[in-house]
Amino acid sequence: MTTVKLTKENLHQISVCLNGRDRQGAAEPRMLLTDWLRHRIGATGTHVGCEHGICGACTVLIDGVAQRACLTLAAQVDGRRVDTVEGLASEEGELSDLQQAFKRHHALQCGFCTPGILMSTSDWLNRIQGRVPHEQEVRNMLSGHLCRCTGYAPIVAAVMEVAQNRYDQRGQATSSEQNDKESSHA
Ligand code: FES
Ligand code: FES
Repeated sequence: MTTVKLTKENLHQISVCLNGRDRQGAAEPRMLLTDWLRHRIGATGTHVGCEHGICGACTVLIDGVAQRACLTLAAQVDGRRVDTVEGLASEEGELSDLQQAFKRHHALQCGFCTPGILMSTSDWLNRIQGRVPHEQEVRNMLSGHLCRCTGYAPIVAAVMEVAQNRYDQRGQATSSEQNDKESSHA
């Protein structure tokens, strides 16, 4: 096996599937994923707050799991899937159900924390499919994010509404599948 020694002047060529599209860019060995996304790729939707893993503003999905981009080196995501807030709306610009709920509930003020909160919530809602969470669970999930505008009440309301709507839609889909099965056996 050949070991390549990287000096700080060397650049990694990073390839990722970013929001469903292949993107490439160079990164210094110690470049953070936040800086790579924002300054090399131009994906400025991911915000940078504390750069210490505390505020959650930089949260993105890496292979579907919410992670702090300020605690991740760009080189660590080479060959992986990265999803950022830019990928939540459809290609035509239609906002996702979560984004629409945030808008309806006025769940953002300055919006600085919002991209990270949306990404954590997207991951979390996918994990809890099949049930409606208790409000305290939503608050626990959001505890990894700091909103300096303190808009937590409408954020919780928006997340609860989406969880309930998705649960209802899932129930309807299950009962129509059930009906289809029963009618095919009739
Ligand atoms: S900027 Fe990453 S957690 Fe604050
Ligand atoms: S809306 Fe301003 S920081 Fe959260």
